[in-house]
Amino acid sequence: MVKICCIGAGYVGGPTMAVIALKCPSIEVAVVDISVSRINAWNSDELPIYEPGLDEVVKQCRGKNLFFSTNVEKHVSEADIIFVSVNTPTKTRGLGAGKAADLTYWESAARMIADVSKSDKIVVEKSTVPVKTAEAIEKILSHNSKGIKYQILSNPEFLAEGTAIEDLFKPDRVLIGGRDTPGGQKAIHALRDVYAHWVPQDRIICTNLWSAELSKLAANAFLAQRISSVNAMSALCEATGANVTQVSHAVGRDTRIGPKFLNASVGFGGSCFQKDILNLVYICECNGLTEVANYWKQVIKVNDYQKSRFVNRVVSSMFNTVSGKKIAILGFAFKKDTGDTRETPAIDVCKGLLGDKANLSIYDPQVTMDQIQKDLSMNKFDWDHPIHLQPMSPTTVKQVSVAWDAYEAAKDAHGLCILTEWDEFRALDYQKIFNSMQKPAFVFDGRNIVDVKKLREIGFIVYSIGKPLDSWLKDMPAMA
Ligand code: UDX
Ligand code: ADP
Repeated sequence: MVKICCIGAGYVGGPTMAVIALKCPSIEVAVVDISVSRINAWNSDELPIYEPGLDEVVKQCRGKNLFFSTNVEKHVSEADIIFVSVNTPTKTRGLGAGKAADLTYWESAARMIADVSKSDKIVVEKSTVPVKTAEAIEKILSHNSKGIKYQILSNPEFLAEGTAIEDLFKPDRVLIGGRDTPGGQKAIHALRDVYAHWVPQDRIICTNLWSAELSKLAANAFLAQRISSVNAMSALCEATGANVTQVSHAVGRDTRIGPKFLNASVGFGGSCFQKDILNLVYICECNGLTEVANYWKQVIKVNDYQKSRFVNRVVSSMFNTVSGKKIAILGFAFKKDTGDTRETPAIDVCKGLLGDKANLSIYDPQVTMDQIQKDLSMNKFDWDHPIHLQPMSPTTVKQVSVAWDAYEAAKDAHGLCILTEWDEFRALDYQKIFNSMQKPAFVFDGRNIVDVKKLREIGFIVYSIGKPLDSWLKDMPAMA
């Protein structure tokens, strides 16, 4: 029986291994992590991450051929294939701070593998890492090998949160990069055989190591660039009276462009896009490619611009001040169908409004109060470091409350901001919400999910990203 061990039981490791276990009953899969609370949660009825369909997959395999454990060394030493899916935060200090990946966790995982291994291993990079990480890991392993042979593969994960199980069941492609040596090719085939249990052969792409590593950064950069492109257009639409939804639709009908990933929003978030682009920028700079680095930096700049543009719009519409006003925040996760808040645009928008002394009442169906408080007190890039977290400042504590539902959040509020596109926000009784709010009542839709016409008929002043402006908003132009 082939044994697989995955180091890191997070958003990538957990769902990916659960699906491998489901699709390959003949393989034993152990997911290990140093975090006891995370492993306990994976072994309980309350999984540590919210992902549609994940519960059922885990329930079917857990205890049969899928195990979650903190006994990292035992499972690593027994495994034939080791996936490494640990966190790779952005460095917050030293060389490359604010850009380069911090490979501390990766390096310690590699050294541990070298320490405990007693048989040959295939080591698979699963977490996104900078190009050439495999080479570094190979060096650590081969210099500590004690005669054991290691083959390093890069097998980047392309799943998106919220649709992870669907994406894993039917991937557009599986990418496997390895060395062009007989040993490297044998390792590629061994991993390909795992995926071949359910993925058609023509969807499994095999490349060299560097191409696989770079393809992951490139794919995320291209996707993020699409969103920044449509968001840049949304600003122009607001200035000219065009409607960004109509523009995206017309543009996306060109089969060369395609309709997906063209929804204007308050900005992209998530653990990958910004981090991967910063990584790409750093690699370009290290290779003297300043123009290329600047090109990709602009994708992040437009994303930051979109978030601050939204905050400016809220403040300027409400007579240039939100001081002491209650603002309801609907949605805090970085997208719907996940409880994940890493790099969510809601953090920057909320911080911007708090800076203008607003009182926030936040509601998200999947994000806990504890998480919201952590996020609002954290410094940039700290989210992926197991740091000693600062409590919220006493003034922020007074300014932020968490509501149990959207109606409670909106009660007596002057304005309502929609920051995540949860389906339940489309189906709210907006007349009831309007009746309970201060007047004039404002809705700022950062995800373009409300029926603008209907809300205006109710009496709301509505701002929807990239849509023709309410006459009220035209009279109160936001600062650029
Ligand atoms: C992304 C990639 O899609 C995935 O392939 C990779 O493995 C990890 O990074 P994820 O971050 O989970 O996945 O979510 P994704 O669906 O890509 O959304 C990222 C952000 O872009 C979200 O904040 C989302 O709301 C935003 N977005 C997406 C838009 O603003 N408009 C769109 O049209 C699509
Ligand atoms: P991702 O979104 O890439 O899955 P996460 O941050 O959700 O990232 O998960 C990474 C996991 O890796 C965390 O649960 C962390 O505790 C775990 N981890 C980090 N370093 C090690 C290590 N050396 N051994 C085992 N687990 C580790």
